[in-house]
Amino acid sequence: MARTARQARAALKTDAKALNLVEFWEQRADVELRAPRNQAMAHRWRWSDIEPRLRVAARTVPIEECERRALVFANPGLDGKPYITNTLFAAYSLYNPGEQAPVHRHTPSASRFVLEGDGGFTVVEGEKLRMARGDLILTPAGTWHDHGNDGREPVIWVDVLDVPLVESLNATRFEFDYAESDPGTNSGQPVRKPVQTVRAPAGHSTNLYGAAGILPRFVSHRRGPNRHSPMFVYRWEATRQAFDRLRQYDGSPYDGVLIEYVDPTTGGAVMPTMAFRCQLLRAGERTRAQRKTASSLYCVLEGEGCTEVEGKRLDWQRNDVFTVPGWLWHEHRNAGSGDAFLYSVTDEPTLRKLGLFRAEGRRADGTVEPLID
Ligand SMILES: [Fe+2]
Repeated sequence: MARTARQARAALKTDAKALNLVEFWEQRADVELRAPRNQAMAHRWRWSDIEPRLRVAARTVPIEECERRALVFANPGLDGKPYITNTLFAAYSLYNPGEQAPVHRHTPSASRFVLEGDGGFTVVEGEKLRMARGDLILTPAGTWHDHGNDGREPVIWVDVLDVPLVESLNATRFEFDYAESDPGTNSGQPVRKPVQTVRAPAGHSTNLYGAAGILPRFVSHRRGPNRHSPMFVYRWEATRQAFDRLRQYDGSPYDGVLIEYVDPTTGGAVMPTMAFRCQLLRAGERTRAQRKTASSLYCVLEGEGCTEVEGKRLDWQRNDVFTVPGWLWHEHRNAGSGDAFLYSVTDEPTLRKLGLFRAEGRRADGTVEPLID
């Protein structure tokens, strides 16, 4: 290169920096990726490591200080951020008997999957939902919710939210100024309340939506400011009964007997951003390898086994949590002598809406097929 050209290029570099420009040719490789760049890593958190620490927090961190007593999963690939994948936030939470978290709402959508205790409850938009092991409770974006424990033993659940996704869209907003009209004041004016007054009948979600294929036509299915499932609780008892009916089928070679908790009014995902699923792997069952552009986290409800993610083996057992980031080949194996049930949450609905969802599976002969549904 002629000296003048070299000098001109050097000046261009200096000018670009001063003008807040980037020379594309300098960073092209960082833009034109041949495959999705995963910062999040496949990782497993052992219940046996975390439960004792959760009990320490229960003894030493007052609920008044923390409001929500949670140990949050920090993916080792995400520089200490409290995110389990690029799009998902998750935690184990514990509430002692008598504790209550004040009512609030936020733009991230939230969910709870219950692991321990049967005295927990969440009030969502005026419906009090009792929580028992294996139940899934939804608090979609913008719904007022408060929760607590009016039982005799601690309750523990896994929270999953789309916090990093919402944050990346610069759309995070939390509100704590709940108010409702108070019949006691007779003024008709809303007054601030620390918790919601329960106003829905007992079993409301299940009363309205608990029979698949049957939808009441005398109520609005809009419950909150956004569109999402109007059914706020999915009981393990009903899920288990569904598995009992489905276990006679071969299931998917990639996921065994996989079910999704759906919006009863649409048959689609319960929230715009996340889908919630559960799969049964029968004793000795081993799935074929697959990869998806979506990221997932799993919580082991029952059983023991392992998930291999691009050669990394994640052994799992009851109450463990593990994550499989996007576009990594992975396969599951039930290594026990009984059923294994894996609860999972995925950002797949987000990727589908944006036209970014792809999935591939490895056939028995080793060739790769696109997975299309
Ligand atoms: Fe919340």
